[in-house]
Amino acid sequence: MGRRSPVALFVALWASQLGLWAAGRSKVNPRIITAPQGAREYVFPTSEKYPVFYHKENSSAIFVGGEGKLYYYDFATYETYTEDFPVIKGGQCMNSGGPEDNKNYLTLLGEDGNGMLVCGTGACSPTCWHWEQKKKGSPSDGRGIAPFSPDSNSLVVVDGHDIYSTIKKSQQNGKIPRFRRVRGGGELYTSDTVMQNPQFVKATTLRHEEPHQDKIYYFFREDNPDKSPEAPRNISRVAQLCKEDKGGTSSLSASKWTTFLKASLICVDPVTKGNFNWLQDVFFVPSSNWRDSKVYGLFTNTWGSSAVCVYSFGDIDNVFRTSKLKGYNGPNPDVKPGQCVSSGQHTPSETFKIADSHPEVEDRVEPIGPTKSPLFHNKHRYQKIGVHEVSAADGRRYNVLYLATDKGSIHKIVELPDGVQNIMELQVFPKKDSIQSMILDHQRAMLYVGSTYKVMEIPMDMCGVYRNNCESCLLARDPYCGWSDGRCQSVYRGREVRQNLNLGSWKEKCQGGKIKEADNYQNITVVPFSRYYLNCPVESHYATYNWYHNDFLIKTCNNTHPQQDCFHFIQNVSLAHFGRYVCISEEDGFRQALVKERLVDQLRFMSQMSQATMTFGSWLHLLLMVVLVELFH
Ligand SMILES: *[C@@H]1O[C@H](CO)[C@@H](O)[C@H](O)[C@H]1NC(C)=O
Ligand SMILES: *[C@@H]1O[C@H](CO)[C@@H](O)[C@H](O)[C@H]1NC(C)=O
Ligand SMILES: *[C@@H]1O[C@H](CO)[C@@H](O)[C@H](O)[C@H]1NC(C)=O
Ligand SMILES: *[C@@H]1O[C@H](CO)[C@@H](O)[C@H](O)[C@H]1NC(C)=O
Ligand SMILES: *[C@@H]1O[C@H](CO)[C@@H](O)[C@H](O)[C@H]1NC(C)=O
Repeated sequence: MGRRSPVALFVALWASQLGLWAAGRSKVNPRIITAPQGAREYVFPTSEKYPVFYHKENSSAIFVGGEGKLYYYDFATYETYTEDFPVIKGGQCMNSGGPEDNKNYLTLLGEDGNGMLVCGTGACSPTCWHWEQKKKGSPSDGRGIAPFSPDSNSLVVVDGHDIYSTIKKSQQNGKIPRFRRVRGGGELYTSDTVMQNPQFVKATTLRHEEPHQDKIYYFFREDNPDKSPEAPRNISRVAQLCKEDKGGTSSLSASKWTTFLKASLICVDPVTKGNFNWLQDVFFVPSSNWRDSKVYGLFTNTWGSSAVCVYSFGDIDNVFRTSKLKGYNGPNPDVKPGQCVSSGQHTPSETFKIADSHPEVEDRVEPIGPTKSPLFHNKHRYQKIGVHEVSAADGRRYNVLYLATDKGSIHKIVELPDGVQNIMELQVFPKKDSIQSMILDHQRAMLYVGSTYKVMEIPMDMCGVYRNNCESCLLARDPYCGWSDGRCQSVYRGREVRQNLNLGSWKEKCQGGKIKEADNYQNITVVPFSRYYLNCPVESHYATYNWYHNDFLIKTCNNTHPQQDCFHFIQNVSLAHFGRYVCISEEDGFRQALVKERLVDQLRFMSQMSQATMTFGSWLHLLLMVVLVELFH
């Protein structure tokens, strides 16, 4: 079950390979490091085809929903248990025969008062349970909250007692997806004409100054009505709804949202004019003032590149409040389309009619910032985004982006004053295993990363990966880490640490920043006439690596790709090859000895040379060699 041994987790920092674009990019010193301290894993008892995850902020535990099972694991106490959630009412499938039909796949684990809401497909009979203190409540109808079979286009938002979802309520009813309110207030759904083949991405509720202004925003992609060849086939959108929407006044509109409006999200690189039109994921960053709350949108394009564009809810609200409706030129009614009316009131039917036939606003939502351009873009096809804000030693707050690739790894990208910098790649799973889920615990600064067979807890402040020397620690520009007490330490340790996040010079921050030239050579015995490789790990694309033999330069590697070592090959070891070897990396004026080896002749060579019994002569020879080697030094 749960294993506590630290897992081999490969960390490679490789800004260069990313082809990361950002204004004023500075040098980085990416690193390839194995097995950082603090990562833990929980392997599921059986692998799960459609796992769902739930983690409560500031806790150390994870819930995993699988096929008819709920798993619990606490990374701090190692407590673990499994609860069965079997099919209650089987044989409900309309078009049966599918292998998924007789199983209860858990599809939702959500907050529910002091407990948890657990919902599953229930073999085409969606069912929910309240789960609290390891006890399962009685099953209830889960239609509209859980799908009839595992479905990728289902989105559920649990907001206190209210639940919103995109899941259809009956097996046979229409193919047109709708966004619904399924619990809290009356049931409402979107008109079938307001979205074209939508693919839902994420939704959130947002409190405004007054309760009747509270909104629901959801993000989705849909078919572009513009079918001209140069137009993109898909458009990314944000839609708004008023939380207190009471539906229309006529019998036809009584169950329809009356405050729906949608707008396009723009994410275009102004330099290349490259359009990132495919919204892949979003992450919400709340703020005490709702207008400053942000949406980090992760987009991809047809060529497999990704971009991150950041929007503010203040801007989104402005677009919905002030823009004309696309295609509508008539007069504006007193209550404007999309406007929330006072609590308990209905939207006037005149307003609803205009909005329902012209649901799109003309103005488009553009990213924040003077250039309205992406935060960055690069050639990776990212799947998921998470953003964590860290308070650094200088008292400022820095945003750190976690981006899950399609190759089982996560990139850690920092927003620094001089641009965005990719500081680390964490290979969490083998390349072929996709990241199913990435949950951030903001309080505890932990990542929970799930695949189909395990979940890992990874500290965001892995400062041990930067060699314990001041220069490496500062050159890394990791806002979680700084130099203090002779170690690269986490800012969460409560100590004052030195960091290099601003544009200032970092060198004076490392007192006596010289390489200590202690005689800590590793003694390596080698057999004469054999081959020998001297390996130096390449950690940075920007550094130059030099091999020295007894202080003479023998090999230089520059512009080497990370993961491709700088090696020096000795084809036929002879007396002249023994002695001190040191590999020194040089970057930004900072020199560091990475490998120090002393090649010493090996007694064993006699037996290997002759594969015969040792004669007195050969012993004498050996002795002579040893003496020579010693003299040589
Ligand atoms: C997080 O948990 C710790 C320990 O359980 C507690 O001391 C702290 O107050 C919690 N923080 C918040 C914001 O709830
Ligand atoms: C755009 O949408 C269509 C369906 O409308 C889909 O088949 C296609 O894959 C989408 N394009 C991209 C680039 O994802
Ligand atoms: C290696 O050998 C030298 C003598 O040849 C010795 O001074 C040094 O301490 C040894 N180093 C290690 C790490 O054993
Ligand atoms: C290595 O060098 C020795 C003497 O210099 C020579 O006798 C031997 O053939 C060489 N071995 C190889 C594999 O080249
Ligand atoms: C690599 O070597 C070339 C030629 O020797 C030199 O011009 C270049 O500046 C070097 N690059 C680095 C990063 O040191």
